[in-house]
Amino acid sequence: MSRPNLALIGATGAVGTVMRDIVSTRDDIWGEIRLVASPRSAGKTLKVRGEDVVVQALAPEVFDGIDIAIFDVPDEVAAEWVPVAAARGAIAIDKSGTFRMEPDVPLVVPEVNPQDARQRPRGIISTPNCTTLSMMAAMGALHAVYGLKELVVASYQAVSGAGVAGPARLYDEVEALAGDRSVGQTAGDVRKVLANKLSDDSPFPAPIAFNVVPWAGSYKDGGWASEEVKLRNESRKILGIPDLKVSATCVRVPVVTTHSLAVHARFERDVTVADAHRVLEAAPTVVLMDDPANGVYPTPLDVVGNDPTYVGRIRQAFDFPNTLDLFVCGDNLRKGAALNAAEIAELVAREL
Ligand SMILES: NC(=O)c1ccc[n+]([C@@H]2O[C@H](COP(=O)([O-])OP(=O)(O)OC[C@H]3O[C@@H](n4cnc5c(N)ncnc54)[C@H](OP(=O)(O)O)[C@@H]3O)[C@@H](O)[C@H]2O)c1
Repeated sequence: MSRPNLALIGATGAVGTVMRDIVSTRDDIWGEIRLVASPRSAGKTLKVRGEDVVVQALAPEVFDGIDIAIFDVPDEVAAEWVPVAAARGAIAIDKSGTFRMEPDVPLVVPEVNPQDARQRPRGIISTPNCTTLSMMAAMGALHAVYGLKELVVASYQAVSGAGVAGPARLYDEVEALAGDRSVGQTAGDVRKVLANKLSDDSPFPAPIAFNVVPWAGSYKDGGWASEEVKLRNESRKILGIPDLKVSATCVRVPVVTTHSLAVHARFERDVTVADAHRVLEAAPTVVLMDDPANGVYPTPLDVVGNDPTYVGRIRQAFDFPNTLDLFVCGDNLRKGAALNAAEIAELVAREL
């Protein structure tokens, strides 16, 4: 077929901005690239593939002639418009949480379960949440050889995971606190300074500058945060292990972009650090940074803006058989969001 036409829905947002960059820098397989956002952004001009493109307001007609539509919009917008795109003949690739756990919608990470992208009875493919995605290339590679049984995860999640409002708030808070060397030493003092200087419409439930916040997402039964429940359910679906034991604590940290995860992973088969090094070195989208004696391990500031999943601090757990502890960093806007969707779109486009 001729080059497929692509629509980017949510082209103005945090993920949409990275998506425009990614489709502009990877192999150009696309015909038209249409940019779409809310009526607030209609008429704005944005760059993609070095060209100015006028943003269109989301409407049924924006899908006319479109082969693949990538959605980077809030859940409620995806719930309404993803089915519209599919009904008008586009294959919809959705970044939101709306359809991920529906049995007739595949949840795809191209390195792990590319075959699932072919089964899409509703014309919809979902891409996982950024926390799950940040570890999946590495955990999928280890699972393929050693068989994953249990995952215990603590996340250190960047503020851009909450959309464009996240970094805006972190920068505002840092600016409001800068230069005052007395803050952060008395309970509540930072809250007081921020209340005097900033509006109270933060996307975070507590100050994020100089702090860590043990909450990401919305409240779920049993006191879980939605990001923790997603990490469990989505890991099971992607890896095809319905009874995988998963427990997670998701924490927001004052990092702009790149999620980090401390992972405690138990396998069916015995696995040494050297085994894990061998497997991860062979995984094409994983970078091993694991030489702690020489200070080599990944940190978000070294990883941000890069595509691979970075892994370090791999240790054999002292007291748990067949178990590794490791530290993973992944750019939540690239592999954690836009890049994974772009890779799925390329996979699908090759088979159109
Ligand atoms: N940030 C991450 O790390 C990350 C990672 C994985 C998944 N996700 C998911 O990706 C999606 C987008 O997240 P984001 O962080 O990019 O959010 P964001 O920065 O808030 O951007 C939201 C985008 O959706 C558009 N939009 C909002 N309401 C709309 C409407 N009624 N009609 C059409 N377009 C509308 C916005 O357009 P306007 O600019 O015109 O308002 C904007 O382009 C969400 O489902 C999120 O959960 C985000």
